[in-house]
Amino acid sequence: MSKKIIIGNWKMNPLTSKEAEKLFSAVAKNISNIRKTEIVICPPVLYIDRLKNLSKKINIGAQDSFWGETGAFTGEVSAHMLYNAGAKYVILGHSERRSLGETSTNVNKKVKESLAAGLIPILCIGENARDESHGYFSVVKAQLEECLSGVSKNSISKVIVMYEPVWAISSTVGRRDATSADCLEMTIFIRKILSDKFGSDSGRMRIIYGGSANEKDAEDFLKNGGIDGLLPGCASLTASKFVDIIKIAENVAK
Ligand code: PGA
Repeated sequence: MSKKIIIGNWKMNPLTSKEAEKLFSAVAKNISNIRKTEIVICPPVLYIDRLKNLSKKINIGAQDSFWGETGAFTGEVSAHMLYNAGAKYVILGHSERRSLGETSTNVNKKVKESLAAGLIPILCIGENARDESHGYFSVVKAQLEECLSGVSKNSISKVIVMYEPVWAISSTVGRRDATSADCLEMTIFIRKILSDKFGSDSGRMRIIYGGSANEKDAEDFLKNGGIDGLLPGCASLTASKFVDIIKIAENVAK
């Protein structure tokens, strides 16, 4: 099995840069034996500068970015600024942002701008609920097509697609667990759409899973979910849990 990627999404945590440094360092000091697994941490943007040089083994990602390089967009941070600040990845279209009004049209602009800036976009897609008539497949298809519209075949392989069923995320009230079989079914579907749209250039794209991924189910998802990695949110806020997930990924890739 090939190299995996584990991406921690800290969301709007922790409260201070001191705590951020402590959490980051606690992960960094326990991954010296990790050789094959790519590790990314996406902290709040404010902490990027403080964390970026703390470990050569951990890449930094942002949790959103805006289009354009500079300009009259109060409150926004551009992909180019993030790149210059030391970020290599950026999460785009996360369901928690979509619930605040983020549209696939905007995500599409952000994906293209991130690629232009040299960042690797982690494009989040996923249905809010599963219905008996399988309408959720069309939801995911529409999100993929809208968010990747106009992305060139040359750069498509850089994009990471994160499948995250919203009903499985820790922040969803009444959430329930997704299974590796749910994940596999969807990753096969996603690969088919990508292949129809981008041809063989999509073959190298990575698809990962997010949605309460944790140290208990990581092995099952990585072995049986048809994925190239995981994006834990909640579990990435406890150093020992995040390190366990990284070690599981390292072993699965052996
Ligand atoms: P979770 O978050 O692991 O806490 O469900 C994942 C995400 O939504 O990024």
